Amino acid sequence: MPQADLYVFSAPTEAFNIQKNIKKFMKNLKGIRDKKYIIINTHAMKNKNSLRKMEKILTKKQMIKVASVNFQVGDVFKNGNGFHGYWEMKLDEFIKKL
Ligand SMILES: Cc1cc2nc3c(=O)[nH]c(=O)nc-3n(C[C@H](O)[C@H](O)[C@H](O)COP(=O)(O)O)c2cc1C
Repeated sequence: MPQADLYVFSAPTEAFNIQKNIKKFMKNLKGIRDKKYIIINTHAMKNKNSLRKMEKILTKKQMIKVASVNFQVGDVFKNGNGFHGYWEMKLDEFIKKL
């Protein structure tokens, strides 16, 4: 990986998991020990985000979490975009941590 002060990983949930290509990419990361990261996850199902799974992979890599945020989008799997709930507040909270 190129050197950076902060790494950003953003992934949708697919099949109750982190989207598989991003999961593979994260699992194969090298040279990022002690580096800071933020994670973003979008998902369609209510209260079913993949942040913990993303964090688990990066904790194993001994990376340091700065912030995380998830957004529910759409109504059902195939129902397109559109944020739910208090997403602006969540975004503000997230930004404050950066
Ligand atoms: C093949 C497929 C499987 C999906 N599986 C899930 C799922 O298991 N749980 C869930 O909450 N959302 C699921 N979704 C919805 C995606 O998480 C959602 O479309 C995505 O987060 C939207 O982000 P994007 O606009 O960047 O694609 C699935 C979407 C696709 C296309």
